[in-house]
Amino acid sequence: MFWVAYHLLYYIWSARIFVAFLLLIHSILEVAKSLVTCRKFSICGCSCAVCMPSCLNRKSGDNAKVPAIIVFGDSSVDSGNNNFISTIAKSNFAPYGRDFPGGSATGRFCNGRLPPDFLSQAFGLKPAIPAYLDPMYNILDLATGVCFASAGSGYDNATADVLGVIPLWQELENYKDYQRRMKAYLGAKKAKEIITEALYIMSLGTNDFLENYYTIPGRRSQFTIQQYQDFLIGLAEDFVKKLYALGARKLSLTGLSPMGCLPLERATNFMHPNSCVKEYNDLALEFNGKLNQLVAKLNDELPGMKVLFANPYDLLLQLITAPSQYGFENAEVGCCGSGTFEMGIICNRDHPLTCTDADKYVFWDAFHLTDRTNQIISAYLFKDLKSKFL
Ligand SMILES: *[C@@H]1O[C@H](CO)[C@@H](O)[C@H](O)[C@H]1NC(C)=O
Repeated sequence: MFWVAYHLLYYIWSARIFVAFLLLIHSILEVAKSLVTCRKFSICGCSCAVCMPSCLNRKSGDNAKVPAIIVFGDSSVDSGNNNFISTIAKSNFAPYGRDFPGGSATGRFCNGRLPPDFLSQAFGLKPAIPAYLDPMYNILDLATGVCFASAGSGYDNATADVLGVIPLWQELENYKDYQRRMKAYLGAKKAKEIITEALYIMSLGTNDFLENYYTIPGRRSQFTIQQYQDFLIGLAEDFVKKLYALGARKLSLTGLSPMGCLPLERATNFMHPNSCVKEYNDLALEFNGKLNQLVAKLNDELPGMKVLFANPYDLLLQLITAPSQYGFENAEVGCCGSGTFEMGIICNRDHPLTCTDADKYVFWDAFHLTDRTNQIISAYLFKDLKSKFL
């Protein structure tokens, strides 16, 4: 009797040791795997202070306060939606994406990643945010972050029409579709939790001025520049209220950059060749002032809504005026081609002038920032986002 009991206990005990051993091996492998993933995505220059903890915390994404990042806007944040519509505003070919993990041209207007990608990683979520229209991703993939943005778009419907891209109202329709799919797949309760706790990012407006107002005659004959700014602010307010009605509660509204210093604008500055266009920088400052007022108003009027005005203007101007302080060698032209006008289909693989090390450039093409600039801006914005939303 004693021997039977002894053997039984012995077997139970060794089986438990064995299971514990398997669990230990499993968790060592998991940690190793997350470190390898971290290393892989750190190539793009993720500073380890931001990256390491977030990679290690990725498993705890479930109880993080920001369970997803949801993005609206233009090429500053589009992760590839334009690949799936018919427009010339595309960038899914080399040399775009050459410093993206795997070196693939995803449709981001960058050599690597965009601010929402860096922010997602900093919040302990995935290192890159997929485009909603990309059939590679299912609703489960998209539940932790999704991008509805479209390069060439703006607040104004007429801006999206210029290059036949996705207007903001359609971005919102796609978001409604996303909500429906999430509810169907995850159930109403879980879907609502994600929708409420997610961080929403809006980044657009440059195209309304540069691609539309100052390029196409339509809006200019209808509005003075003052009136057009107010028209856009009205559209922004409308959009945020619609998002709020759909359940959003945490929003980062991005201000304009010093857009007079974009290489394309410098190159076409006939009054002061190669200098920043002061008129456009002043306009950006003025519009940012109005956006800031709008943000205060929205925080006031919408109960439970938190809106942050994310303003990269000053930092970016600093990078442009004192590039060497940040390890850049060039802040006047883009890396691609001559750097003065190439973007989209004319920034292509065969250009002999394209730079070899984009990390030395603030601008990637004539209109868009490099991966490294995006990373620096994201690290700066993340501090504010973290204190507001975590
Ligand atoms: C933009 O277009 C949509 C769809 O046609 C329309 O519902 C909306 O009112 C338009 N917005 C403005 C400001 O004209």
